[in-house]
Amino acid sequence: MEFFIDTADVNEIAELVETGLVDGVTTNPSLMAKTGQSYQDTLAAICDLVDGPVSAEVTALEPEAMLQEGRHLSKIAENIVVKVPLTWNGLRACKMLRDEAIQVNVTLCFSASQALLAAKAGATYISPFVGRLDDLGQNGMELIRVISEIYGQYKHSLQTKILVASVRSPLHVVEAARLGAQVVTVPAKVLKQMAQHPLTDKGLEAFLKDWAKTGQSIL
Ligand code: E4P
Repeated sequence: MEFFIDTADVNEIAELVETGLVDGVTTNPSLMAKTGQSYQDTLAAICDLVDGPVSAEVTALEPEAMLQEGRHLSKIAENIVVKVPLTWNGLRACKMLRDEAIQVNVTLCFSASQALLAAKAGATYISPFVGRLDDLGQNGMELIRVISEIYGQYKHSLQTKILVASVRSPLHVVEAARLGAQVVTVPAKVLKQMAQHPLTDKGLEAFLKDWAKTGQSIL
């Protein structure tokens, strides 16, 4: 399973890349706005830090304008993946961008029918938003299960990877892995939470207390 980081914060990305746990980055207009920095410069800086895919979202709404923006964004670096929303026009832009061999992440997916269309349009990634569905009292992970089942039926003809987005907790990540999703994009906080367990902390404390009693040191 690949781990992408869901942030546009260059410093945060730089810190996490050092761990070797980061396979890519996803950004969106809201994350970009939070940085207060130039869109293009921020994307270029992220692409310098990360070898893997970096998603950059278009903001136009018409297919031709999305295509123009997508072409422009894709020139920032080789690892840019153009993100388009899962609208009718977004699907049309996806097809046009894929015809030019530009990688596309179709975002804001909330249903299996949308995911099916994105795959037909040649999306490189489909981003179902599990957390936002949970927020509405629906089951976000159930959507991942259904998309995974559908894509699995056509695995020889559909190449689209499931990129689980809008992740709120380590449980989302574990469930996504159990369902075989190829990618999960997580905020830095969730990635760090994944390493935590109170019994690990308690066990370490006891080990160090006992070790101190020996009066020895390893080096
Ligand atoms: C990533 O591609 C999405 O834009 C992101 O995961 C959305 O997360 P949110 O629902 O926490 O805003």
